[in-house]
Amino acid sequence: MKPDPTRPAQANNVAAPSPEAILRAVELLRQGQVIGLPTETVYGLAGDGLNPIALARIFEVKQRPLFDPLILHFADAAAAFDVAEQIPTSARELAQRFWPGPLTLVLPKKGIVPDLATSGLPHVALRVPAHPVAQALLRAFNGPLAAPSANRFGRISPTDAQAVRIELGEVVPLILDGGACAVGVESTVLFLAEPQPVLLRAGGIPLEEIEEVIGPVRHAAPVEDRPQSPGQLKHHYAPRKPLWLVLSAAQIPSRADAGWLAFGPQAEFLGRMENISPTGNLREAAANFFRALRSLDDDPRVNTIYAMPLPAEGLGLAINERLERAAG
Ligand code: TXA
Ligand code: MG
Repeated sequence: MKPDPTRPAQANNVAAPSPEAILRAVELLRQGQVIGLPTETVYGLAGDGLNPIALARIFEVKQRPLFDPLILHFADAAAAFDVAEQIPTSARELAQRFWPGPLTLVLPKKGIVPDLATSGLPHVALRVPAHPVAQALLRAFNGPLAAPSANRFGRISPTDAQAVRIELGEVVPLILDGGACAVGVESTVLFLAEPQPVLLRAGGIPLEEIEEVIGPVRHAAPVEDRPQSPGQLKHHYAPRKPLWLVLSAAQIPSRADAGWLAFGPQAEFLGRMENISPTGNLREAAANFFRALRSLDDDPRVNTIYAMPLPAEGLGLAINERLERAAG
């Protein structure tokens, strides 16, 4: 094929996840570089979880404050628990039930985990992702990968390779394209380093399902500045345009420049509507949420985005948490 003269050389760092691309990714990771990686929740910005240079690079690329610790990703539970100091029964039961999958467990860490990964905290966040490309890479790399969502700090999380590309451009040498993320919201983060389990972030595994396994879980309240889990920061997942959370459709102005992030059956709308699940299915809504928010944010016709809270159950809890932060 002749090179296209209208495109700069190497304009596209997005690659299909072929065996060659996986090998290239491993090579880059071994050099301490960071890459875009699909997971079932959102795309991650992945680097060698045991290499402080790679960890520093993640913070730099994301423009993320150093007090915000990273999640370490592993191929399986045995590898994950290997870096934890004590593993409570609850952690083993949850791993058994939900790994690989969108659940992150915070446990006391062993010395092998660099301080930069945990922002100096004595505990570490562990996750075993289910996405086949993440699994293939973790097995080929044969070590933990630190991976925050592949957006710049505070912005909307990317749920497909193109969104990563738009967010990070050429700053990363490689973005593995694993298609659209099936879950669409980040993993549920559960603190298990003390006897009473605490939900630090609602996410891809509904709280009800976790409580079925380990009993009642305390829900940590969002906080203003130095939180226990910085993912609790109030302003996060922010679109550039103002987002208003309203309690009924009647509060959404019928104007051409209004964007409506809708859920469930809705009547015609004069502005731009992105319906994340016309049938009112919360799993489908989660899968479409960030893409729809990004699409309204990027639409030049839209000046203000409106949304209503979703039913506060199942994945609705995770979506509402992100809506509230997006509304600031
Ligand atoms: O689904 C996900 O979890 C995605 C994909 C890429 O795996 N990753 C992700 O990472 O969302 P990030 O960095 O955007 O969010 C990690 C969350 C943050 O809220 C962080 O504060 C919390 O996990 N966290 C990480 N380590 C922690 C620790 N030691 N103690 C408390 N919270 C921690
Ligand atoms: Mg994030």
